[in-house]
Amino acid sequence: MRRVPDPLHFDAHADVYARARPPYPRELWAWLTDHGLLGPGTRVIELGAGTGQATGPMLAVGAAVTAVEPGPALAARLRAACPAATVRVGTAESVTLPVAAFDLAVAATSVHWLDLDVVLPALHRALVRSGRFAVWRNAFGDPTAPVTPFRERVAEIVARRGPDRARPGPGELDDAAWVERLTAGNRFVAVAVEEFRWSVDLATEQVRDLFTTFSDWEPGEVAEAARAVDELGGHVIEHYVTPLIVLDRVDAP
Ligand SMILES: C[S@@+](CC[C@H](N)C(=O)[O-])C[C@H]1O[C@@H](n2cnc3c(N)ncnc32)[C@H](O)[C@@H]1O
Repeated sequence: MRRVPDPLHFDAHADVYARARPPYPRELWAWLTDHGLLGPGTRVIELGAGTGQATGPMLAVGAAVTAVEPGPALAARLRAACPAATVRVGTAESVTLPVAAFDLAVAATSVHWLDLDVVLPALHRALVRSGRFAVWRNAFGDPTAPVTPFRERVAEIVARRGPDRARPGPGELDDAAWVERLTAGNRFVAVAVEEFRWSVDLATEQVRDLFTTFSDWEPGEVAEAARAVDELGGHVIEHYVTPLIVLDRVDAP
């Protein structure tokens, strides 16, 4: 029987996660700093921090980051990689956050794991009146880019799956549906939606590691993807998209 995506998948592959996940694009960080969301002294609450792919760059610009991460193995690596962060081990739904204590809430490739009926009210309480919520993710595949031979092979693997593998919730590039979910309850209003497009050159082992971290990929499928890279010369160019949704806290919902 096929498994459904499991939020603990990442914790089970914490070492691979730390080395395999690509960083977020420079343009994303520039946008956040240029628009005054992030800078020295910004108090950030980050949900689902993993091993610190977003935590590290936020600390690097001088933000004070409290990072929430439920996976104990991920949290241990996060502490080691980002000793300046305050790490809270637990889910975003279960941690108790101080009231009006943060300028910015961040969910980096984690919002699809959150129960927003619980998390949005909690963030509304935890943010200052003028607080903001920035939601972004790395989408591993850009539907607007030319289809590469490797992407054809990925599509063949995915097409063989049964119907029960899809994660519930909007698609990862369905920005409008995510805006609707994030503004439900009128606690937040969307003020910007951006998409950053970028490319990476990945070798076979990098593809094997990266696809191992995908919660909806089974080991046999990962091996097949890695084999495809070998057959295509040992390197592939991958085109990715990083959608960003920025929300302002609404004072009185
Ligand atoms: C795809 S990873 C993203 C990690 C990191 N933010 C990054 O940018 O690579 C999703 C993360 O969300 C965490 N997660 C899953 N369910 C969660 C929940 N209910 N509350 C907070 N984090 C959760 C997972 O443990 C994992 O670290």
